[in-house]
Amino acid sequence: MKEFTYTPHLDDLDAESKYLVHKAKEALSHAYAPYSKFLVGAAILLTDGAVVTGANQENAAYPLCMCAERVAIYNAAMLHPHVDIKKIAVVARKKSAKELSPATCCGSCRQVLLEFENKQQKPIEIIMQNQEHVWVNAVSAASLLPFGFTHASLEK
Ligand code: THU
Repeated sequence: MKEFTYTPHLDDLDAESKYLVHKAKEALSHAYAPYSKFLVGAAILLTDGAVVTGANQENAAYPLCMCAERVAIYNAAMLHPHVDIKKIAVVARKKSAKELSPATCCGSCRQVLLEFENKQQKPIEIIMQNQEHVWVNAVSAASLLPFGFTHASLEK
């Protein structure tokens, strides 16, 4: 199976992904990014159809800044603790801009996605925009983080 598919135009994504991107765009308005001025929104689709969102939350103590993806994942874990995650969409926009900026999940978010993917034993699809503004659909967190650190290491 192909790990990544590439879709140049948003309109050509499947309806579910397009909807999730739309929800991620809405979440952008809740970003608190006074330092980077880089607003990020994430939307998670759960297997029961519920959508949970997140936006980046920054802090004057820079290392405490929290990415949109992790805000969304932890939000989902709290609000829907027993429901699996199907897909996450991520979008970003510079505060001064109208158009979206490319933003792929950072390494820390990939690691957290991998943790939840292993926990639920079902892949989490990821939709995000690469540097060429092409929509990337990754079939799983594992595909974005080869050789990722997991619980397996702690057990052996
Ligand atoms: N950011 C995210 O929210 N998600 C990512 O995957 C990459 C970066 C945020 C963190 C920080 O608030 C801002 O973008 C600039 O790095």
